[in-house]
Amino acid sequence: MERNEFIKSLGLGVAMVCTGACFSACGKKSDAPEPGKPNGGGVPSGTTASVDLATQLLSVGASITVNSILFIRTAAGNTSTSFAATQAICPHQGGALSFIQASNYIQCGLHSSRYTTSGSILAQPNDGGTTSALKVYPLTVSGNTLTATA
Ligand code: FES
Repeated sequence: MERNEFIKSLGLGVAMVCTGACFSACGKKSDAPEPGKPNGGGVPSGTTASVDLATQLLSVGASITVNSILFIRTAAGNTSTSFAATQAICPHQGGALSFIQASNYIQCGLHSSRYTTSGSILAQPNDGGTTSALKVYPLTVSGNTLTATA
């Protein structure tokens, strides 16, 4: 083999390796959603979050996320049974959960799974995956302070 032929074949080999590496990297779903969050998207045990009922959750259907806990007012009155508190991070792959007042369900912003305010699954993710029921946290009311404790 002549020197020039050897160098050409070497260059072709390097180009093939680089192309292969590029295709391999391009095939990875680097923009894919994160894998499931630790604890299924729930907050660590002992976590608390509070809402000031004098200024927040004033009307039925109102919701707010505090400390990764989604609070929803489900009825009038300021007793613990007037509210629901669930994890705010989807157990499927960590999408943000929101309460859709008009439809009265919780929905994931990433793959549109849906849940009741008591955490039951209404619809699985639209990517073909499966999710699990939401963690629901007990609530207490003291004065105007609503507190959920994981
Ligand atoms: S992350 Fe919520 S449905 Fe996929």
